[in-house]
Amino acid sequence: MYFQQWKDYFLINQSHFSHIDFSKPDLFCLDEQKLFNSSIQQFQRGEHSEGKHLLKYAKQYGDPCYTEAIKLFIKEEQTHALVLATFLNRHDIPKIKDHWVDGVFRMLRQLSGIENTITILLVAEIISKVYYRALMNATTSELLQQICEQVLKDEEKHLHFQCCTLKTLQLKKSKTAKLFWEMYFKTILKGTTIVVWKYHKKVLQAGGLNFYGFDDACSSIINELLQMIKGQKEIPSALAPLQFEKLIA
Ligand SMILES: [Fe+2]
Ligand SMILES: [Fe+2]
Repeated sequence: MYFQQWKDYFLINQSHFSHIDFSKPDLFCLDEQKLFNSSIQQFQRGEHSEGKHLLKYAKQYGDPCYTEAIKLFIKEEQTHALVLATFLNRHDIPKIKDHWVDGVFRMLRQLSGIENTITILLVAEIISKVYYRALMNATTSELLQQICEQVLKDEEKHLHFQCCTLKTLQLKKSKTAKLFWEMYFKTILKGTTIVVWKYHKKVLQAGGLNFYGFDDACSSIINELLQMIKGQKEIPSALAPLQFEKLIA
């Protein structure tokens, strides 16, 4: 029942980019290209994953609805990679095949079971929420703004989806194990914000954030998610409508 709703949500959301006309003329000026190209190329690469390990762990979780929801989730992330690739293509910007930061993230995700994988994924979703908001504010490209808006909506749902999984996994753990997990989650996020700032500060700064603003934004998201995972705050249901104004506030 719990993950049935998430499966339904991902099924309904499959046409999430259908409102965007990718053939419409779009201006992405050279000044912006100089500042943002390498950052968008890295995020485009990061969005694409086959999800083999995630799917393997999801199957071990033992709920067929969860496995189906994860399959659709992986597809949704691949769509993010696809629309960003389409945007890059439109402006004759090449895609990149690899980046070491992406490689480290993939390695961390594959280290152990489902809890670690979802925790690392959740760190990436937190960063994405702050990044795409900054990119949307920074760019004058209408197409990129529309893409960021939809990705932001999707990522917000992903945060809640991953929280649902972590909440159920945490129920079986001791107090000490929960504490260690929280420290691990916070440490990975802190380390990631430093690395992401180094490689993406041009976008983040153009979007109105200095390092402390970026760090604060990530911290406030993780604190809210931790409340949800610990059961101190309700996780919005899969089919609950999103308030986009809140996402960009
Ligand atoms: Fe994504
Ligand atoms: Fe996501």
